[in-house]
Amino acid sequence: MRREFSWPKLLTESGRGLAFGGDYNPDQWPEEVWDEDIELMKRAHVNTVALAIFSWSKIQPSEHTWDFGWLDRIIAKLGAAGIAVDLASATAAAPLWLYEQHPEVLPIDRYGHVINPGSRQSWSPTSPVFKEYALAMCRKLAERYGNNSTVTAWHMGNEYGWNNRCDYSDNAQNAFRAWCQRKYGDIDALNDAWGTAFWSQRVTSFGEVIVPRHMGGDAMANPAQQLDFERFGNDMLLDFYKAERDAIAEICPDKPFTTNFMVSTDQCCMDYARWSDEVDFVSNDHYFHEGESHLDELACSDALMNGLAQGKPWYVMEHSTSAVQWKPLNARKRGGELMRDAIAHVAFGADAINFFQWRQSRSGAEAFHSAMLPHAGADSTVYREVCELGETLETLAAAGLQGAEVERSSTAILFHAESEWATRCQTLPSMQLSHWHDVRDWYRAFLDAGQRADVVPLRDDWSDYSTIVLPTVLSLSRDDTQRVADFAKAGGRVIVNYATGLIDESFRVGLGGYPGAGDGLLRDMFGVRSEEFNITSTLSPADAICPIADADEAAPDIDPAYVCLSNGSISQLWQNVVTAVADDAKVVATYEGDEAEAWEIGGVPAITIHPYGQGKAVYVGCDLSREGVAALLADPALFGGQQESQGESQQESQRESNHLIHTRRRSGHTVFDFYLNRDATPSVVPELSGDVVLAYRTSGNPNVGGRYILQRNGLLVTRTVTRTAA
Ligand code: GLA
Ligand code: GLA
Repeated sequence: MRREFSWPKLLTESGRGLAFGGDYNPDQWPEEVWDEDIELMKRAHVNTVALAIFSWSKIQPSEHTWDFGWLDRIIAKLGAAGIAVDLASATAAAPLWLYEQHPEVLPIDRYGHVINPGSRQSWSPTSPVFKEYALAMCRKLAERYGNNSTVTAWHMGNEYGWNNRCDYSDNAQNAFRAWCQRKYGDIDALNDAWGTAFWSQRVTSFGEVIVPRHMGGDAMANPAQQLDFERFGNDMLLDFYKAERDAIAEICPDKPFTTNFMVSTDQCCMDYARWSDEVDFVSNDHYFHEGESHLDELACSDALMNGLAQGKPWYVMEHSTSAVQWKPLNARKRGGELMRDAIAHVAFGADAINFFQWRQSRSGAEAFHSAMLPHAGADSTVYREVCELGETLETLAAAGLQGAEVERSSTAILFHAESEWATRCQTLPSMQLSHWHDVRDWYRAFLDAGQRADVVPLRDDWSDYSTIVLPTVLSLSRDDTQRVADFAKAGGRVIVNYATGLIDESFRVGLGGYPGAGDGLLRDMFGVRSEEFNITSTLSPADAICPIADADEAAPDIDPAYVCLSNGSISQLWQNVVTAVADDAKVVATYEGDEAEAWEIGGVPAITIHPYGQGKAVYVGCDLSREGVAALLADPALFGGQQESQGESQQESQRESNHLIHTRRRSGHTVFDFYLNRDATPSVVPELSGDVVLAYRTSGNPNVGGRYILQRNGLLVTRTVTRTAA
């Protein structure tokens, strides 16, 4: 059961508007700067802050002392200035006195080392003692601020699981045993699911079940046990969140709850589809991926956020005005990227744009992390751009954007957290697998082909799409395989790749040839059967460079690190050795050339299409390069009619250009079109119908017969009022 959607109010007259602000840590500064903070917030059009996220030790300096005075004062000042507060449960970083009194709340890593205090999330999610202290804090805050009209939302914890995703403590082991008992009921079912006949792993009672601690040397954990341990860790953190939420809800039930997810390119470590059911509105922390994939990666992460939000608006709880400080090298944002990224989030359905953090820290681990008000002060480029953004968001809100839903694509790329966990396992044919990265690569390939796909959790309902893509959805249960088959039978198009459906939900391999999911159902659906995997990356990564540039050179006398396909594409990591193809399947491409011969897969089918029921099953049996996927998607012979059920003009504009990202948000009769330039060079926007609400880094003049041209980081938002509502 999903909680009902509820969105935090602003302190405007109507309570409406796009939320704009950031994490605010006034307790890290002398009170003398607070008035200046608020003055500068107002100048920047800030209307919301997330408060007290790391303030536990300030609020509760010792077990029996509480200090709310400072929090009362700052909330009153913010309220008077019309700035709403998203109040944290303040439990993300616990005070040292708690650890001194109760060292047993600390998590243990897989080597048996205690995770020491001093940072954040240094607590075991299954510790009953820690929970007691955390819930006491939640109740105190609810009692004190539950009726405070400046507090309009609850921000639970912070990035649950960031530092305590996996805990191997005795607490955790006991809880894992209970979790397994609930899941399997009897021990034979667990033995069967985990395949414990292997290496004498049979357990005779739930009391013998162990968490997968480090076992020495290069010992490998049972992958089914590991996968259950991931599920368990997710569940324990989710239970902890729910306990905190409910402790507040018992006292203050009427303000919306959220917690900030971590969806970006190298992070997506929780099963957020399940978390989304437990929040009143979905929120995310997104940190940009520097380099040429910057905007595409943001778009892919946001497409998943929009999927998690199920079409409702969602909240950017954190992103950065410029550089972070936690990577080996921290790129700054260049001209226009601050505005472009923020509006890109809006284009994908965000109705709230917030940053970590308001005032850049002077001390501590994050002093060199950018902020809205940088070290340089208000006389700075970043602060000026922040002000410009605040004003822009007000313009968009005034145009009626709030609550408008993102128009769906006809294609859904399916995301499956469990497959992401499974691909991180060390016992697979290649350790370079990543489901989430393959989702991103397919997402980008769709953009390259001039199309925008949605990203939808596997567990949701995607039966209304015309195409679904399952990139490296390694683990497919019998039920999910059946859902995929039913979708195709009813006329849908299904695309899978080389590593989809190799195992079931218990990491058991389907027999009879790959892909064996659904006891052979997937194999029948695609009309292919493969027997082995050809893994080509036998060279050092430095040698394994894409070969197109020296295609004319003689074949190397070492094993080649890539294989060519008969349609001109390239595969660099993995090719399934397909040994049988159904008579009614069409082979679109085979492996070909010296490299394929060297690997003895010359002529082996690489891409096939098989009719299934009323639909089509497209099989890509190798890790096709992004260019290869894009070429495939753009091939009208294969994908003619691809966009049949897509919004008319969107369809047209998508075909118009693969240099732009175009999204549309609709609210009743009003339609907002967003155009973002993907390129470092200028891109031309298709002919427009509506009024221009925002033109940023554009040139050209449509009024004198030209078209808008988006410069680097340029964007355009138009508004059209239609006669008919969606
Ligand atoms: C060793 C072990 C076997 C098996 C193989 C796998 O030789 O003795 O049990 O694990 O490695 O390569
Ligand atoms: C996370 C945290 C913030 C801050 C930022 C820095 O998202 O939630 O407290 O540490 O990272 O990027």
